[in-house]
Amino acid sequence: MSNAVIEIRNLSKIYRDFWGRKKVQAVKSLSMDVQKGEVFGLLGPNGSGKTTTMKMLLGLLFPTSGEMTILGKSASDVSKNEKIGYLPEESYLYRFLNADETLDFYGRLFNMSAADRIRRSDELIEMVGLGKARRRQLKEYSKGMTRRIGLAQALINDPELVLLDEPTSGLDPLGTREMKDLILRLKAQGKTVVMCSHQLADVQDVCDRIAVLFQGELKVLGRVDELLEMRNETQMRTSSLSKEAEEDIRKVLEKHNIKNAQFTSPRADLEELFLRTVRESGERPGRRFSAEEIAASGKGGNA
Ligand SMILES: Nc1ncnc2c1ncn2[C@@H]1O[C@H](COP(=O)(O)OP(=O)(O)OP(=O)(O)O)[C@@H](O)[C@H]1O
Ligand SMILES: [Mg+2]
Repeated sequence: MSNAVIEIRNLSKIYRDFWGRKKVQAVKSLSMDVQKGEVFGLLGPNGSGKTTTMKMLLGLLFPTSGEMTILGKSASDVSKNEKIGYLPEESYLYRFLNADETLDFYGRLFNMSAADRIRRSDELIEMVGLGKARRRQLKEYSKGMTRRIGLAQALINDPELVLLDEPTSGLDPLGTREMKDLILRLKAQGKTVVMCSHQLADVQDVCDRIAVLFQGELKVLGRVDELLEMRNETQMRTSSLSKEAEEDIRKVLEKHNIKNAQFTSPRADLEELFLRTVRESGERPGRRFSAEEIAASGKGGNA
């Protein structure tokens, strides 16, 4: 028995111009599956067919050829969309509604009761961190705030499958971290997530598997950890070594015919530095940190 939530077979999409002439082949005989409970990343340069693929899955665009099954139903069967959440690339929310009204509006579309709509809105607004801005009209929202209300809207129906088209675009590093945590929370709840992103670090952090598209064709498909593992190298991590210890280890390595081993301090990534600075600035306002202090307070990566 397959556990696939999405099955795509030989999917192609050709956009035609007004006279029916072939303009662009956006997707070329794409075949892939997405399994229940996984976070799946669709990568590829601009114009490689990611958004087109998502829209076909939702039944918003018709494929030129090929088959798709989503949650056991055909892509053209819109009843399946009741169990799907979608965060589009560009927001199409009503600019004159506030966050509460927006979620109430979408809740009504899904025939939720008034009590359910209120409970679910409160939960989602809290979850995406818009508590303070919930009564402001969306036209006043910043890019990141718009992304957050978009996500809340996508989750209003408590979907089993969530399609996120560039969820972290426009978010600051703090918002990005929160968005990634939200995605991991959805996964922990057993939801299936498919996301497109150009932020490769984000993809690496949250996705179990990825597909790379290039001009509509599938080029790479696999588990992120397997694709990125450098099997011909070994990395060892300890607290910092003295010069003597380093020399001793070099001798042992030479005995095994390993030369040119590199000893360096691991680097925290910029995300880590940014988050730490923001956190510590909140705790001690009006203070500026020296590079040494930042380096000393850093534990490096996840350690
Ligand atoms: N409505 C349309 N009419 C004609 N061509 C289109 C249409 N929408 C997309 N295309 C073309 O299809 C191709 C794939 O576009 P798509 O939006 O799926 O790419 P994408 O991978 O999502 O890119 P990006 O990373 O920029 O969002 C592009 O060549 C684009 O010009
Ligand atoms: Mg796109």
